[in-house]
Amino acid sequence: METIKSIWHHFSDKHDFPSLGQNIQTEVAVIGGGITGITTGKLLARAGFPSVVLESNAVGSGTTSYSTGNLYYTVDDQLSSLEGKYDIDRVKRIAASRSETLQQMTRWIQDLSLDCDYKKVPWYLYSSNKENMKTIRDELQTGKEAGLSVREANIHEIPFSLTSAISIPAQAQINPMRYVQELAATIKNANCQIYQHSRVLSIQRKNGEYLLQTSRGDVTAKNVVHATHTPKGIKFVQTLLGPYREYGIACRINGTNHPEGIFWGLYNEGTVISSRTYRRNGETYLIIVGKPHKVGHKENNEEIIASLEEFAQTHFDVQETTFRWGGQHYRPADLLPFIGPVKKGSTEFIATGYSTDGLVYGTLAAHILTDMITGQDNKWADLYDSTRKQPLKSGPKFLKENIDVASHYIKDMVGPGDFPVKELKKGEGKIIKKEGKRLAVSRNEDGELEVISAVCTHMGCNVHWNNAEKSWDCPCHGSRFSTDGTVLEGPALDPLPKNPIRM
Ligand code: FES
Repeated sequence: METIKSIWHHFSDKHDFPSLGQNIQTEVAVIGGGITGITTGKLLARAGFPSVVLESNAVGSGTTSYSTGNLYYTVDDQLSSLEGKYDIDRVKRIAASRSETLQQMTRWIQDLSLDCDYKKVPWYLYSSNKENMKTIRDELQTGKEAGLSVREANIHEIPFSLTSAISIPAQAQINPMRYVQELAATIKNANCQIYQHSRVLSIQRKNGEYLLQTSRGDVTAKNVVHATHTPKGIKFVQTLLGPYREYGIACRINGTNHPEGIFWGLYNEGTVISSRTYRRNGETYLIIVGKPHKVGHKENNEEIIASLEEFAQTHFDVQETTFRWGGQHYRPADLLPFIGPVKKGSTEFIATGYSTDGLVYGTLAAHILTDMITGQDNKWADLYDSTRKQPLKSGPKFLKENIDVASHYIKDMVGPGDFPVKELKKGEGKIIKKEGKRLAVSRNEDGELEVISAVCTHMGCNVHWNNAEKSWDCPCHGSRFSTDGTVLEGPALDPLPKNPIRM
């Protein structure tokens, strides 16, 4: 398998933001320079509130850069699922909050001349079989009740074999990494300082303020925003979220037999596959994303990427697969994001549980959090209350996510079997137990063995090998680590210790 890299990374320009090299005092420290963090910085600067954005890698290069780049009013869990949990007025407001946010993003793209390959396109949901036709009917009805201009689609508009389909006109597509980088470049305001390659190593509460430490400077702030997809450190909300990973590919295709649009296909056994095209430098790319699974639960992640390639080849004249990547999302038990303070009255804020709808929800979260910090009312804030109790109807899903976590604790405590390390091939990883310690052992492409602790530094579950991305992934709350133990994403702050014993 070739290097994992999203198409958005390839087609983004480098922007020169410095890394933090001194101590700073500010009103708001924003952790994370993706769509939520940069939009929050932009809005706070506009409101005259000083902020500092700390991004661990390059601006826009985290979760945002592994998304589909699709912007739409509806939600990936389907509006009809929301209607199973909430009354229709609430569903209507959720749809309205997303459509208003998408329209605001469109205005910014036009007014600020953001060079992000924006395109207005229709959204389609289709069923590949008879079993899923009811979902399509339900979605049509709920969409109409929610006030969306959803209609039955002509099946000839869609380049797949299908049984029924619906559509919403005038949705949108962007290169999400370019969008965030271009937006960040417009913040020419001393009120918002952006630092990249400045990983937050710890967050402490000191004298009524927050102290965020990086390797070359500290930030002290009255408010802190976790714009990191899932909050850093141990937070109660993590028990309400399921971490999922899905893969994407981009292929160069011949011909023009893929019409423009966002296509979500419902296939057998709950499989959902999303496709779209992207044009850049005179080439047309087909992007296929799908087959989500719980982080760390899949034995062979390479298989998923291979099946997406097979899907593309079955339906289109594919020249070659040019990019392959994985992206993460967090699914809330009651299907709605958590946006607001970690607990009532706190000045520590979270924005998480976007499912795969994070580009619009990330922007919406930035508006809500900015209004909270600056003391303004926000008409959508109550929908996504971060301190809400989980409604009863989400009980079974909540229990399932937590039984999953508990089962990893129990299974992992039993410990893995012994394994002769010399049998490990290049690009392979295994958990072994030695001298009473659980070790994550992998062999890199140079044939060298890398040995780190297998115990996740977040809350102690065992990490699992991800053979597609050559990473160690924690099934409990989605922390991911490189083979040398560096935190790649998720709630963990500390790396997995190297060489816990001599081998
Ligand atoms: Fe929570 Fe690993 S992410 S224990």
